[in-house]
Amino acid sequence: PTGCLLSFSRTVDGTTFTSSIKEKTVARALYAQARAKDKLAGLVRSSALDMENFQTEVNILPGAKVQFELHYQEAKWRKLGSYEHRLHLQPGRLARHLEVDVWIIEPQGIRFVHVPDTFEGHFDGVPVISKGHQKAHISFRPTVAQQRKCSKCSETAVDGELVVMYDVHREKKAGELEVFNGYFVHFFAPENLHPIPKNILFVIDVSGSMWGVKMKQTVEAMKTILDDLREEDQFSVVDFNQNVRTWKNDLVSATKTQTADAKKYIEKIHPSGGTNINEALLRAIFILNEANNLGLLDPNSVSLIILVSDGDPTVGELKLSNIQKNVKQNIQDNVSLFSLGMGFDVDYDFLKRLSNENRGIAQRIYGNQDTASQLKKFYNQVSTPLLRNVQFNYPHSSVTDVTQNSFHNYFGGSEIVVAGKFDPDKLEKIQSIITATSANTELVLETLAQMDDLEDFLSKDKHADPDFTRKLWAYLTINQLLAERSLAPTAAAKKKITRSILQMSLDHHIVTPLTAMVIENNAGDERMLADSPPPDQSCCSGALYYGSKVAPGSIPSWANPSPAPLVPMRAEGAQVLESTPPPHVMR
Ligand SMILES: *[C@@H]1O[C@H](CO)[C@@H](O)[C@H](O)[C@H]1NC(C)=O
Repeated sequence: PTGCLLSFSRTVDGTTFTSSIKEKTVARALYAQARAKDKLAGLVRSSALDMENFQTEVNILPGAKVQFELHYQEAKWRKLGSYEHRLHLQPGRLARHLEVDVWIIEPQGIRFVHVPDTFEGHFDGVPVISKGHQKAHISFRPTVAQQRKCSKCSETAVDGELVVMYDVHREKKAGELEVFNGYFVHFFAPENLHPIPKNILFVIDVSGSMWGVKMKQTVEAMKTILDDLREEDQFSVVDFNQNVRTWKNDLVSATKTQTADAKKYIEKIHPSGGTNINEALLRAIFILNEANNLGLLDPNSVSLIILVSDGDPTVGELKLSNIQKNVKQNIQDNVSLFSLGMGFDVDYDFLKRLSNENRGIAQRIYGNQDTASQLKKFYNQVSTPLLRNVQFNYPHSSVTDVTQNSFHNYFGGSEIVVAGKFDPDKLEKIQSIITATSANTELVLETLAQMDDLEDFLSKDKHADPDFTRKLWAYLTINQLLAERSLAPTAAAKKKITRSILQMSLDHHIVTPLTAMVIENNAGDERMLADSPPPDQSCCSGALYYGSKVAPGSIPSWANPSPAPLVPMRAEGAQVLESTPPPHVMR
């Protein structure tokens, strides 16, 4: 999940359009009304991909001045030791004013800021980075001359991503408890802990569709992954098409000789045939369970399965819900299953359900050429388990609505975030106690936060969002409810969760799969609709369309939208969106 569209507004010659969140059916009805009256109506359409993709397409009278303002908020998850903010910059032509400002505001203090050279040395002198103790500012304002691909070119060299990476200081092992306005957020990312040994099974799809670049890239990634295993780790490799094979039928220690042998095995694989995911996963689980039952697993180790697949099952058990059931039954909640879906032929929702239900996460990999590095990067996120059974405790009497507070594992480079509500009139400080198991000891970590710690800090900076504790709490809660909803055992349970999600998104103004945003002018006769992905997809990717050019007669089909007749805004001679509003980044 990435983030959420918060609001979108548009000003046409002085008339401002503002946004509000409505239940999906209500929003669609309002939109249909505007369309029926042949008024200007518009649409924000979701894209099914896991990326943010907002497009405004609008028809504008010559000489009219239009300004778009998009407020989008996303939670930044720490990965591989840093937060990363990516901004796609593809203006398509030289822009008179191209300005990007990124402000970072961190009460804990900023440890480093890094802006990788993603434009291949084109922009000497920009971006300018200024970093203080708790604040940093990155300013990217290339002049027209600097934007030119070459001194006489009329093409722009601004065509890619501006990436900002940073991390904060983490002196306190027990994490940082940030408290404000009745909400708290607890950031927990301890370092300098010894890694816990892992028992890891790589389950690799080698069906025909993996043939070519995909397999080459997988092999390349697997070779570096195997090199990174520690000697105290145990592993094996399961590869499958219609049949399931193993490199070794039992887990073996990751010594140099064994990893070298596994690498040779993987190099020799020739993809062909069908896909039997069910068998492959059950085999992997069996190997882990058997090792445990024979007493071959270190009691203080963690068990992981990494599934790499590029397609739906074609052999053996085909029904996804049955595979899900089989896996859950056999895994018995003591193995974490991580899934990587390659490309577009794979039912990514299925992989997500499979992983969410079994203590893991799923990720999708796009493209071909850098599959190896994406795969490696994903693996790195789970390669270093540092803690097991992490439990966050807060005083029951005064703290309520705590988000998920118990975690099977904590992996190095990541971060656990827990949020909750409290009554500021009753409490002057919040105390938390974290218990966890590390490689060599049981930990009990305590931390304390004063109520007004942040108030002063947040009120002094106009770029700070004093409401971030509430928003982050709401966002975490909604995401959790969405995950629960997709696993709800009965229709009644699902309905109940649906109601809560709806209420939360209306209360906190967040577009979810169940709500939509209506953007309208004061008179209410011009409307746009901001819709979001269907349930069970990541929250809030979206594309923005202006509806006056949608084929008349009906609301476009959501299942099969046809953006084709729309004319891109830039082709209409409108003012190009030349300045980027400051991104709202919340941590
Ligand atoms: C998981 O738990 C079950 C039941 O206690 C046990 O039989 C199995 O061996 C365990 N598997 C692993 C990998 O720890």
